[in-house]
Parts: sequence; structure tokens; C-alpha cells
Amino acid sequence: MSAELSPAERFAAAKAKKGAPRLEDFRQRLAFDLDPFQLEACRSLEAGHSVLVAAPTGAGKTIVAEFAVHLALAEPRAKVFYTTPMKALSNQKFSELAAEHGADQVGLLTGDSNINSGARVVVMTTEVLRNMLYADSPLLRDLTYVVMDEVHYLADRFRGAVWEEVIIHLPAEVRMVSLSATVSNAEEFGDWLQAVRGDTDVIVSEERPVPLEQHVLVRSKLLDLFETSTLVQGEGSDARVNPELTRLTGSQDRAAGNYRHQTVGRPGKGKRRDHDRTQSRGGSTPPSGDRRSTGQYSGDRMGRGDLVKLLRSRNLLPAIFFIFSRVGCDAAVEQVARSDVRLTEAWERDEIRSIVEERCRQIPDSDLAVLGYWGWLDGLERGLAAHHAGMLPIFKEIVEELFQRKLLKVVFATETLALGVNMPARTVVIEKLEKFNGESRVQLTPGEYTQLTGRAGRRGIDVEGHAVIQWTGGVDPRAVASLASRRTYPLHSSFRPTYNMAVNLIQQFGRTRTRKVLEQSFAQFQADRAVVDLARRVRTQEEALGGYEQAMTCHLGDYREYSSLRRELSDLERKNARAEGRGPGEHESRGERDRRQRQIADLRKRMKQHPCHACAEREAHARWAERWWRLKRETDQMRSQISGRTGAVAQVFDRVTEVLTELGYVVPSTGGGERELEVTPSGRVLMRIYGERDLLVSECLRRGIWDDLDAPGLAALASSLVYEPRRESEAGERGLPRGAFRAALEATEAVWEELSALEVAHRLPEGTAPSAGLALATQKWAQGAALDVVLRDAELAAGDFVRWMKQAIDLLDQLSIVADGSLGRKARQAIDGIRRGIVAYSGVS
Ligand SMILES: Nc1ncnc2c1ncn2[C@@H]1O[C@H](COP(=O)(O)OP(=O)(O)OP(=O)(O)O)[C@@H](O)[C@H]1O
Ligand SMILES: [Mg+2]
Repeated sequence: MSAELSPAERFAAAKAKKGAPRLEDFRQRLAFDLDPFQLEACRSLEAGHSVLVAAPTGAGKTIVAEFAVHLALAEPRAKVFYTTPMKALSNQKFSELAAEHGADQVGLLTGDSNINSGARVVVMTTEVLRNMLYADSPLLRDLTYVVMDEVHYLADRFRGAVWEEVIIHLPAEVRMVSLSATVSNAEEFGDWLQAVRGDTDVIVSEERPVPLEQHVLVRSKLLDLFETSTLVQGEGSDARVNPELTRLTGSQDRAAGNYRHQTVGRPGKGKRRDHDRTQSRGGSTPPSGDRRSTGQYSGDRMGRGDLVKLLRSRNLLPAIFFIFSRVGCDAAVEQVARSDVRLTEAWERDEIRSIVEERCRQIPDSDLAVLGYWGWLDGLERGLAAHHAGMLPIFKEIVEELFQRKLLKVVFATETLALGVNMPARTVVIEKLEKFNGESRVQLTPGEYTQLTGRAGRRGIDVEGHAVIQWTGGVDPRAVASLASRRTYPLHSSFRPTYNMAVNLIQQFGRTRTRKVLEQSFAQFQADRAVVDLARRVRTQEEALGGYEQAMTCHLGDYREYSSLRRELSDLERKNARAEGRGPGEHESRGERDRRQRQIADLRKRMKQHPCHACAEREAHARWAERWWRLKRETDQMRSQISGRTGAVAQVFDRVTEVLTELGYVVPSTGGGERELEVTPSGRVLMRIYGERDLLVSECLRRGIWDDLDAPGLAALASSLVYEPRRESEAGERGLPRGAFRAALEATEAVWEELSALEVAHRLPEGTAPSAGLALATQKWAQGAALDVVLRDAELAAGDFVRWMKQAIDLLDQLSIVADGSLGRKARQAIDGIRRGIVAYSGVS
């Protein structure tokens, strides 16, 4: 503290130090001062509470986690686990923490790496921690803090449940640091954390660390989106769209014969919009007839090469271009390189080359050629690169590193870049406001837009970040504006009890307590909130029903009775009319028809005899009765929704245990209460098998149907149990390994069918079938085939191949632990066979 503080300031500082001495200590070591939300979160932590911090991308949430590490290390034995959803992010955090606290203090546990697992600070993927909890690992001793970075992953359809499992099962004394992107229901999530973990403070910051300026590029003109260009997050709703922009896009649209007031990114004929290529070949414009017929004319969109030049001249580099396809990203690098753009100085090129050569030293030349290394390096030296999941992980890491070192100026990325990895730029370019989601073109949501533009603006470097949206014919700037200013992004649970979860919980708690545990899930919490909400609406509707009932009260008799006769009659008459339209003999017999006619006649008679029939106000009463019936039906539906949601998660668990009981993974317990269950030896195997196809794997193991496979065959089979083709049609077109594999695959498929039938019978969703599309390539790879052969066979990008092989290794690893004798041995051999070459290169070693 400097000596120039006023007495009041000195007092405040002393008081703060007394309240949070460790925090003061921590602050001294930082190069910058903490933001209010960071201070608040750190104070809560030091006071012994758990925290949920929700703040925008790049706001500096990591600091709070680092403070937890600081707190843990200040105690004699306390440990801290830092969990992230991705291996790449884990690697990054591991390197950072090791640099800060020394390599001996920090460990890393992902599917790929097992470094220093007993350290005081261990970085791991969330799945690793979940597995530790179920296995009651000794590493959990002295665990004091758990950081969950990117905790909004909890909403992930496939993996989200893991986050809930960890949150529910961590020992009560562990304090949690949950870091989340801004979500609109942070309070609700915080309330749940409070309910399951106790004492949790929710700290929300909506402020972007660097303000964002948003622009629209119309042809070659860069215009501000809003009249007042700088938009503070969340305030956009009343900012006015720049009138010049409206004018210009309007006149463009009229000239091109576009219809006005279309919404953003109308789906449709977007395929022929590769104008960059057209332009680099001499910029031919399509004939005007073409413009009209597509209604989507967007010629004269600035080519990427020119756009990069424009950004450079406006001092808006470095930039990230978001392009929602991997092929598109790779093509973009080529396009820009072809337009002869070079964004680096000579010294930068030297540095790039030496970093890349150093990092790729271990890769043999033959592999480098297959991986397109030389073209890639040429792009890098120009300051250009792609970044997407199809790339070899080590290449992707190099791109990240070069970008962070400011050596790269333009990166063309898919949206995965918007998650987690800290890679901000001055400018983010969004070429289209729609993306392909695997099935069809869909519009970007406001949440996605916020996430993408969150990468714009580097703290401490840029005064403001910039977003550039490239205008497409027919797009109304107001639609862009609403995307840019609205932010709704609620966090929804995707939790569902799995087989593996069920046996683990039954083993640990028994069935009755497990049901209680599951009722603590966020899924059930949200369902319960919905129930509270529904119940409230049911109550108000009941009041309204009472009102209607009064309005239809007739002094002559029971009007409800009368109106139910009327309804019955009109239903029958409608049916009658339909039947007559169809003509005799179709769908119903003569007898049925006669019976209905008699019913109608009878109802008419009863109606006429009813006292209410003679009432002068009969039709007025009828109108109220109509409303009453409609509202009654709606209310009844709500009541059934309420009963469906009450205990919904426990009900699914019950069905899962029914399946498990039927297959003998659990049996009624001999000792405990009458509804208790006990895990059998095969259930104990299932306890150690994780993943989408947990039950299928353990059922196949139990039946011994993989016993005849050799190691490469087992690798091929493992790949069939993890692989999910991107398109339906892709599967099984590529030929299968010969020999024992085919019989084993067929037997596996038969088991899958059996299990599906069982699931359907117990009203559970069916699992997905095995998919042998990678089997042949995996087998060859395990037998030592060359990389180019295997990639050709697999028809996959290198990065995808590596990802699937790593998942197969995960599964084989589980097999090597649970399978006895020769199968376990073969699983280990299979791992050795596929963990080589590009599958083994990794950023940390
Ligand atoms: N108070 C601060 N002042 C200046 N810079 C800061 C401050 N806090 C954090 N930073 C810097 O801001 C950058 C982004 O921080 P961080 O990675 O923690 O963001 P984040 O909130 O985790 O974002 P994301 O949602 O992308 O994970 C880091 O380089 C960090 O050093
Ligand atoms: Mg972060």
C-alpha cells in the first residue's frame, strides 16, 4: 500500500485486510486490480462459502478459481481440484497453474494424461472427478475446494448429468467454485446449489470487460449497427438502428429485387454464395434474372481477402472469423492466401517457423505430409490459420499459442473456439447469421451471438472490441439489432439416471436413499419449480371456473348437467356427419351406426325434458358453459402435468432399476427393507463402465461374446461402441474387418436389440445401435498400418480420427480393468496398438 492514502482509505484498507487477509495477500501479487465481482466472490470464498460466479466471456472468472487455489495452498494439507469440460482446457489450466505454483504442486488427470495425481492442485475433466467419487478414491482425502469451470455445461445433452452427479455427491465439507457464462436463470441455479451444497453465494456480473462496437458490412462499406455505436451489454433493447444502414440495405435490396422485412438469414438457396472465389477469378456478377429468381441476391459481398485488407487498414486486426463449417474454415485460409495477403513481418515469420518446428519435432515427415503440414505452415507464416475440431489436437494448440503470442492475425474458426479457450481478438467477424446444425440451416440465437462476440476485445490491449456482421441481401438490420441486444440463455438440466449411475448409487446408498438423492438433482429442482408455477396457475384457473359456474347457474335446474347432455349430443352428431361423409360400409358396421342414431334420439329427448331447456337465458348460459368446459380441460391437463413432474427423476430411476433387476445386475436384498436392492457381481462390473453404452458393454462382457477377438479386433469393436457417425447414411458403408470380428459384431447387435426391447417395455428411451463405420480403419491402425491408409479408409479428418481413437482407448481402459484374464490382457494390447503416432502426439507430455 502506498503511503499517500488518506486516513479514511487507510482505515478501509486495514478493515478489509482484517476481514480477508488472504485476499489482500493474493491481490498484492496480481498485476491488475480486481473488478468488483471478483472481489465479492473472493471475499465470499475466504469467508468459507461456496460461490457461483456468472459473468461474460473474458470477464476474468478464472481469478476466483485461482484464489481458491491460493486459499488451499495456504493451509497445511488442503487440496483443490480444478475441473473443466475439455481436455484442451485442462491442459491449458495445468500449464498455467504449474507455471504459477511449481510443477510439483500441480497434477493433471484426463483420459490422456496422468501426471502427478496426488498433488495438492489437480486439474481434471469433470468425468474423472465423477468416477473418483463413485470409486471413493483415496485421492479425495483432504479435498477442500472444487472448481467447476464452464459449469453451464450441465445443460449439455450428453454429458450434462456428470456435473449434477459431482455437485450432488461431493462430500458436504467441500466448497465449490462454480464458474458459468452468463445465464438468465443464475439465481435459480444458485438456489439449487444452496439447496444441495448449502451456503452458496451467487455473484452475477453482466458487464463485458471490454465494450463492444457492432458494425455491419454492406458491400464494402463498414457501418455502425446502432446509432450510438458502443453498446453496453443488456442495454441494447432501446438503442436505435443506424438510419444510414437501414437506408443503404433497403436500397440494395430494392435494386436486387429482394423483398423487404425478411427476418435474418432466411433458409434456402445459400449454396451458390461463394463469392470470394468468384471474385478472385475476376469478380463476375450473376445476371439480373438470376438475382430475381433466388430473391437472395448477395453478389458484391466483399471477398475474404479484401475484407482482411479492409480490417487491416482500419486497424481492426487480429480478427476471428466465425465460419460454421470446418471445410469452410480451411477453404478460407486458402482463399485469403491466394489473394496474396501477408500479414506478418519477417521476424514474426521466423518466430512462427521456429515455434512450429519445435512443437512438431516428434512427428515424422511421412505423417506431416499426410497432415498437409506444408500448406498449413505457409498459412501460419502469412498470419492465417483455421481452428476447428477436425484438426489434429497438437496443430490446434499451436494455432492457439501463436494467436495468443499475437503472431497470427486472422483465424477462421468454427464455434468451438467460442467456448472456454482464452483466445480473444480485437475483432470478430460473423459472415452469416445462420449455421448448419447437422440437419438444416438454423438461425443463430441471441445466446450464441453473445458467446461468439464475447471473443472480441482483449483486456488490457483493446479499448473496445468490434463485431462485424457481413450483410446478406434480404436481411433486415432490425433483426440483426435484436439478435445483438437480446440475451436470453437459461440453463436447463439434462440430467437423467443412467444404468451405471443407478448401480453405483444403489451400492453406495441403497435404493430408498438413492431416490431421495435423485430428488436433489437440478432436473427435479427445475421440475418442482415448474410444478409450483403450474399449481399457482391451477389455483387461479379454479377461481375463474368458479366464476363461470356462477354465470351459468340457472334458476330452473342443474345447468352443468344440461350442458353435458348438449356436449355429448354435439359430439355424436359430429361423428355422425363424418361417418355419413365416408359412405356406408367403411370403418364401421351397420349395427354401430344404428346404435349411434338411437343414442342421438335419446339424448335429444332427455335434453328437451331437462328443466333448463325451457329457460329464456338458455343460450347465454350456454356460452358460459362452453368457457367453463374449455378451461376445465386445460386445468385438468395442468394437473396431469403436475403429477408427471412430481418425482419424475425418481420414476425414471425406478424404471432403470426394473431393467437392472430383470437382467440380474441388482437383486432384492436379503437383509434390508422389502424394497431394498443389492448389487450383484455383474452389477459391480457395470459400476466401472461409463459412457453412452454402459449396459450394452457390460452385457456383452458378461456373455463372453468378445472372447474370441484378437487385440486389433477388440479395438475395432471398441471403436464401434463409441463411434457416432455424423450422418446416418455414413455408417457401415466402408466394409468390415474379417474373421471373428463379424460374428462378435453381430452378437453385439443382437444384444443391443434385446436391450432395446427391454427398454421400450419399461418406457425408457432406447440406446443407440453400435456403429461399425470405423471398425476397419481401427483394426488396420491397431495392426500398424500407415496413417494415410487409415485416414483414407476412415474418410475422416485427422482430428476426428484422433478423437474417436481416444474414446475407444477410454473404453478399452475400462475393459482392461473389469474384464478378467485374457480379454483384459487383449484390451491392454489393443490400447498399445492404437495409442501411437498422431493418436499419441499431445500438447503436454
Ligand atoms: N481485473 C482484471 N483486470 C485486468 N485483466 C483481467 C482482470 N481479471 C482477469 N483479467 C484478464 O482477463 C483475461 C480473461 O480472463 P478469464 O480467462 O478468467 O476469463 P473468463 O471469465 O474465464 O472467460 P471465459 O468465459 O472465456 O472462460 C485473462 O487474460 C485475465 O488475465
Ligand atoms: Mg474461463
